[in-house]
Parts: sequence; C-alpha cells; structure tokens
Amino acid sequence: METVGIGIAGAGNVGGALARRLIDDRKAIREKTGLDLEPRRVVVRDTARDRGLPPEIIATEVMDLVSDEGVDVVVEVMGGIEPAGDLVVAALKAGKPVVTANKELVAARGPELLAIAADAGVPFLFEAAVGGGIPIIAPLMESLAGEKIRRVMGIVNGTTNYMLTAMSETGADYAAVLAEAQTLGYAEADPTADVSGMDSASKAVILAGLAFGVWVSPSEVHREGIDGLEPADFAAAARLGHTIKLLAVAEATSGGVVVRVHPTLIPLTHPLAGVRGATNAVYIEGDSVGQLLFAGPGAGGMPTATSVLGDVISAARGIVAPSVVVPPVRVEVGEHGDFGALETQWCLRIEVEDAPGVLARIAGVFGSLGVSIKSMRQDGRGDGATLLIVTHAAPEAAQRKAHEGLVGLSSVREVASAIRLEGDEA
Ligand SMILES: NC(=O)c1ccc[n+]([C@@H]2O[C@H](COP(=O)([O-])OP(=O)(O)OC[C@H]3O[C@@H](n4cnc5c(N)ncnc54)[C@H](OP(=O)(O)O)[C@@H]3O)[C@@H](O)[C@H]2O)c1
Repeated sequence: METVGIGIAGAGNVGGALARRLIDDRKAIREKTGLDLEPRRVVVRDTARDRGLPPEIIATEVMDLVSDEGVDVVVEVMGGIEPAGDLVVAALKAGKPVVTANKELVAARGPELLAIAADAGVPFLFEAAVGGGIPIIAPLMESLAGEKIRRVMGIVNGTTNYMLTAMSETGADYAAVLAEAQTLGYAEADPTADVSGMDSASKAVILAGLAFGVWVSPSEVHREGIDGLEPADFAAAARLGHTIKLLAVAEATSGGVVVRVHPTLIPLTHPLAGVRGATNAVYIEGDSVGQLLFAGPGAGGMPTATSVLGDVISAARGIVAPSVVVPPVRVEVGEHGDFGALETQWCLRIEVEDAPGVLARIAGVFGSLGVSIKSMRQDGRGDGATLLIVTHAAPEAAQRKAHEGLVGLSSVREVASAIRLEGDEA
C-alpha cells in the first residue's frame, strides 16, 4: 500500500487535532479507506511548545511543505491571508493538492485559487472553511451541482449564535452575554470579527460562490453586526412569535447575486429558529430539491479536524487512484447585485409622542413609498407608547427611505430598532 505524506501548516486548535488524529487513527483510517496517511511535517512558529506530537516532524519553514518530496498533500490551518496565500499558491503550482480551513483566504481569493488548482490538475478543498464540522461545501460542489439554488441562509458563526441564544432565553443584555461568552471561551478577547458579522460575511461569500457560481468580494457584502441589539428587541420578537438570529443570506436575483449579513427576525416555526448555542446551520432552498438543512458544530478543533481529514482523504484518493480525482471547480468573479432592489420585510420598534394623528402620519410615510404595513401594535399609552410595525415585503431601498422618513417625523421620539424579517411571507 502506497503511503501518502501529509504536511500541515499550523498545529493550533485545528492543526493539532488533525495531526493527532492522523497519528492515533492511522490504522483505523487505513482499514476504513484503504489509504495509509502519514503526517510527515507540521509547521509552527514556536517549536518549544509541547503539542503531544513527535518532535522530529515539527518544523518552522512554511515553504518547506512545498519543497519536501515526502509531503504529497498540503494542509493549511494557520489562518490569515499571508503567508497562507503564498503557501497555497506555491503548493498548487507544484502539483500538490491543498486542503484549508481558512475562510478568510478562501473568501478573498477563492476564484483565483480554484483556477490555479484546475490549471494544475489538483484539488483545492476547503470543507472546514464554512460550518466547521458540518459537511456543506462538498454537498454544494457535488450533490447539488445540478440544482437551481434560489437562496442560502445560514447561521455560520457560533459565537454570535451563542450570544443571541443567551439574550433571547435569559433576557440579559449584550454586554453581559459577551462577557459570559468570553469567560466560557465562546468569544475571543477581541470579538470584533464575530460580532460585526465579518466572519459570517466571509462564509457567505463562499456559500454564494458555490451555490451560484459567482464570487462577490467580501467587502461588497452588506453587513450589520449584533452589538446594537437590546433586550427590548428580543421581547418584541417574542411578542411576534419570532426570535433573532444573525443570518448570512445569499440569493440569486435578476440583477445579480446579493449577499448580506444582519440580525434577522425569523418565526419560531422556521427550521433555523431552533438552532441554539454555538451550533451552526445552513438552510438551502432549491427549485427541485425543496428545503435542506445542514446543522452541527460550526467550530472546535476536533469537529473542524473531521472536515479537514475528510478533504485530506479525498485528496489522497486522487493521488493513489488518479481516476477518482476531485473534478475541478471554476467560479466567476461577479458584480454584487443591487440589494436596494431586493424585496425585504422590516420590523420597526418606534417610540412615539402622545399626540393626535401620529399613527396617520406614520402610515403616510410608509404609504408614500409603496410600503404596506402588515401589522402594527402599540404597547403602553401616552408619552411612553411604543409601536411595533411589521411591513410587508417591499424593495429594500423603499424600506430604508421609510425608516429615514420616520426618523424625521416630529411625533416620533426614536426609531429604537429596525430589523429585517425572513421566513415570514412566502
Ligand atoms: N478553531 C476552529 O474552531 C476553526 C473552525 C473552522 C475554521 N478554522 C480555521 O482554521 C484555521 C486555523 O485555526 P485555529 O483555531 O487552529 O488557529 P490557531 O489555534 O491560532 O493555530 C494556528 C497555528 O498556525 C501556526 N502559525 C500561524 N502563523 C504561522 C506562521 N507564519 N508560520 C508557521 N506557523 C504559523 C501557529 O503556530 P504556533 O502554535 O507556534 O503559534 C499555530 O500552531 C484558521 O483559518 C481558522 O479560521 C478554525
């Protein structure tokens, strides 16, 4: 049996778990797959740290993974754009399959890296880049390759889903749940990439690229984070029979692919509403297949290493039996579609003055822009009255203008929040 040499850049949460799995499970993998996989070089920055790995395979030069003839498959689990990008390009050009978990790199340079891989005739695989341990990339690339996908909606960031679940279930405020998430290790000391929606945006770009064949730039994704959410938003959502999730949504419109990340009200009956804690889920709507839900652990060394290991096995199969090599995938770089033209539904929480004609003036703002009101409810009376307005679907641009119009009304004290809804209207 031919042994396939594996080189791993990075031995942190994911790389460390992968290297140990390759060593501990070598026999089991061989028996199950017929492949003998051997970790031959593991590259880190700090060689002094004990990682429970044989010291002779620990190294520090990333590019040695390309020149080392004993390395047949290169795994990049360092993170960041550089030197990860240089390593991936050099390895692919040298004819070595590459496996990565690096969503930031794949989102930023996916089409280029896939094209280099296709030209070199080797696979570039990134199952772990979205949804950690959830198999979602291979289903999109292979099982759903012939499906006309209309929309992909995902809870693709475990940190924020943990925090939103806690806010929804305990009534605690943002600062308290962030502090708790940091204490428990669900949130980084600097949580910006997660709470701002940046991490979700990278994953949304990858999902959109594979679902629609069009790769938009991560900087074009409309992005709103969760830091402005208040307990009152969750109380309002509950009154409407909804909950709030940070959704990454990608859809094909006549004007192009629109990708967005924002807090979203979804009905409690929606399959994504029951996705709690750090769990991730991706919901796909296809013309022929209907609705699909993929759910599971979106992070963690071991679950993520499972996805990476699956890709390593695919790549190794292609080396041992070239006829089963993973077919090349090419995607186009595309212009982002016009979000303003997309039909969205909004829920607005408005503090109003106790004066005659207020409701008529508010309704007039919506009516003048062609946005119809689905429901309006009032909590409290007099000067402390709060209105909760849910609109019917209307172009995003009109919804934003209505929001601006309300902010400008003298009888409106404050538009306390404006959150989009999904899954409420067919
Ligand atoms: N953690 C997860 O649950 C998860 C889930 C899905 C995807 N991912 C992705 O997987 C990748 C790795 O994540 P992680 O959590 O495993 O990261 P991590 O724990 O920070 O580990 C990074 C590893 O890369 C090494 N490294 C970084 N820069 C290097 C350089 N220039 N030269 C040599 N070695 C270098 C580090 O070496 P030292 O140990 O010496 O510092 C460390 O071993 C990232 O792209 C991440 O987005 C992670």
